[in-house]
Amino acid sequence: MPLELTILVGTMTGTAQLVAQELELVLDDENTRVQTRLMDGLDERAFDSGGLFLICTSTYGQGDVPDNAKALYEALQTARPDLSRVYYGVIALGDMTYAETYCNGGKRFDAILADLGAKRIGELMLHNASAGTLPEEVALEWALPWIEQCREILPLTA
Ligand SMILES: Cc1cc2nc3c(=O)[nH]c(=O)nc-3n(C[C@H](O)[C@H](O)[C@H](O)COP(=O)(O)O)c2cc1C
Repeated sequence: MPLELTILVGTMTGTAQLVAQELELVLDDENTRVQTRLMDGLDERAFDSGGLFLICTSTYGQGDVPDNAKALYEALQTARPDLSRVYYGVIALGDMTYAETYCNGGKRFDAILADLGAKRIGELMLHNASAGTLPEEVALEWALPWIEQCREILPLTA
């Protein structure tokens, strides 16, 4: 059975979407089925199936999630579903120029998912837009070992 991964994308100007597309291109194969969804219009039911998710989101405003992620983030806070069947990773895009709120969009999703019982696999991946590195390259370097880690953990817990 292939591993099924859903990438949920929170973005304002498309960088997180580009990262997700690159990950889908590389990770989707006979061992892994990848589905990428923009967060637009999603609510807490996006997690109803349980399984493995990758949150790929940028940060805006005062360390907020991007506009297209707000409804999903707020629905999780309000509905407070039991996410104990959910496993997830986080790719958080940000900019060190905003030192106080660096990558808070991804950190916020991490906090609410953990609070609702979902289990994170691996550390958060943080990307600093001022670092001069390409987010899709950094993300891929992070994601290749991450997906192997998921593969080891998930069959044991299914
Ligand atoms: C108006 C504005 C506000 C931002 N606020 C933050 C912030 O509070 N913290 C942070 O780490 N990055 C912040 N960023 C940086 C973005 O999150 C970063 O550039 C990201 O790569 C953009 O990804 P996107 O194109 O998917 O939206 C901000 C960028 C803009 C333009």
